[in-house]
Amino acid sequence: MQVIVVDDYEALSALAAGLVAGFLWARPDATLALPTGATPEGFYRALVATGVSFARVRTFNLDEYRGLSREHPGSFYHYMKTRLFDHVDLPPEHRFVLDGTAADPDAECRRYEEAIRQAGGIDLAILGLGLNGHIGFNEPGTPWDSRTRLVTLTESTRRANARFFGGPDRVPREALTMGIGTILEARRILVLVSGAGKAAIVRRFLEGPATPEVPATALRNHPHVTVILDRAAAGHLTGHGTVVSGHKK
Ligand code: F6R
Repeated sequence: MQVIVVDDYEALSALAAGLVAGFLWARPDATLALPTGATPEGFYRALVATGVSFARVRTFNLDEYRGLSREHPGSFYHYMKTRLFDHVDLPPEHRFVLDGTAADPDAECRRYEEAIRQAGGIDLAILGLGLNGHIGFNEPGTPWDSRTRLVTLTESTRRANARFFGGPDRVPREALTMGIGTILEARRILVLVSGAGKAAIVRRFLEGPATPEVPATALRNHPHVTVILDRAAAGHLTGHGTVVSGHKK
């Protein structure tokens, strides 16, 4: 696992965008798994600004809330449309987001796994890290061989995402998410984590015991993982990290 610590959120966003744009220049037909949330906002802005083409790229979002239509402003489809899809030449038929309104969520999840398989698997998965260590919406206790499925969100996750809905009670209780097993099959993985609020979970992710109680620790079994942290998120680490920009304060 390569861990890179940069000065701040802006540097994290720029580095992540540079890495992903470089990846797409080398592999213009790559298949990506993509996150939503607060952390990747700057990354998407910087990625769009690179001007890299998505004409042959396929994207699979990690997750979607159960019961929200694509038009709902809190849906991850809406997030992707406003942050990325509306700004790049990614063909509509190459944009895969789980359908939160599917009458049969299990069938929807099977369909998603099949679509990933037909795309040749995921070349690069970009992930955020939840306050409780979740990746995608795989909450603590999720088995590491889990596949795409319907899940119940924890109170901690619903509180963390309340800002997108105007209160925790309005956050959906369920979601569809790629499984940890599905994520681990990606050929490369890039994890972005920003802010002092994540410092404690970053330490458990990188330096604590590998356990399903901290879902992100499953990534330690993967051969090609890069983690980009800003200095605030790296604040509790004792041993890891390579400073690639700025100076130690
Ligand atoms: C979202 C996702 C989640 C987030 C995580 C961090 O698609 O998969 O795992 O990456 O909850 O969210 P933020 O960036 O809002 O702290």
